[in-house]
Amino acid sequence: MISDTLLNRRTIRKYSDKAVDDELLNELLIKACRASTTGNMQVYSIIVTRDSEKKKELSPFHFNQKMIIEAPVVLTFCADFNRFNKWCTLRKAKPGYDNFLSFFTAAIDALLVAQTLCIAAESAGLGICYLGTTTYMAHKIIDTLKLPGGVVPVTTVTLGWPDEKPEQVDRLPVEAVVHNEVYHDYTFEDIGRFYILKEERSDSLQFVKENNLETLAQVFTDVRYKKKDNIYFSKMLLQVLKDQGFMNQ
Ligand SMILES: Cc1cc2nc3c(=O)[nH]c(=O)nc-3n(C[C@H](O)[C@H](O)[C@H](O)COP(=O)(O)O)c2cc1C
Repeated sequence: MISDTLLNRRTIRKYSDKAVDDELLNELLIKACRASTTGNMQVYSIIVTRDSEKKKELSPFHFNQKMIIEAPVVLTFCADFNRFNKWCTLRKAKPGYDNFLSFFTAAIDALLVAQTLCIAAESAGLGICYLGTTTYMAHKIIDTLKLPGGVVPVTTVTLGWPDEKPEQVDRLPVEAVVHNEVYHDYTFEDIGRFYILKEERSDSLQFVKENNLETLAQVFTDVRYKKKDNIYFSKMLLQVLKDQGFMNQ
């Protein structure tokens, strides 16, 4: 049952040598492309990387995370107005998609198709891992994958048969993320209650200790997702959006 797949899933970062055959991949891609898409425009593209040389080229732009080299399939999901713009121009229609809203629209489309593929893959017993490095190093990935103007990579997924079964990681209780009718802002007491389970996990305590910090939140702010890095990569991404023609107005 699909709901069991959803409830039991975990990210897989280690893959067996077993190939993911073209027929299966094609079936997953066909299913993924059934995802909802803004105005049925399908303003996304998916780049399939299987070639080991190409993976080696991509690897440093994903900070050498081993899944890029080790997974049989690497999928780069791109926001793509290039194809749609060309169709408009060819059919005497004037595209007005050189703006940030259009990028965001296409990014939403790309993420929906990515997540649908992930669900289809996990339902078939495959393992997946998203790579957030794509938006950090988008300019390099654009060069490597020869993405034209109007196309921006928004996420990458590695895909293969699992060769590990890691413990499931925690989630906040559902009540922490769901608001009935209107947003109910959190009191400090709510925050304490919702985050305590995460904070008390042994792996969390280990992260805090290893990094000589006081709290788990500091692991995020001071180690994993630092302000300095966020600002640096934000600027790079904004430049990419300009270069790819999404910030003309
Ligand atoms: C947009 C996005 C980017 C991610 N980037 C990375 C990454 O670069 N490397 C990695 O190992 N995992 C990455 N992940 C996987 C998350 O770390 C993982 O989903 C999260 O820790 C929860 O674990 P679970 O998927 O096993 O439940 C990413 C997930 C998402 C949704």
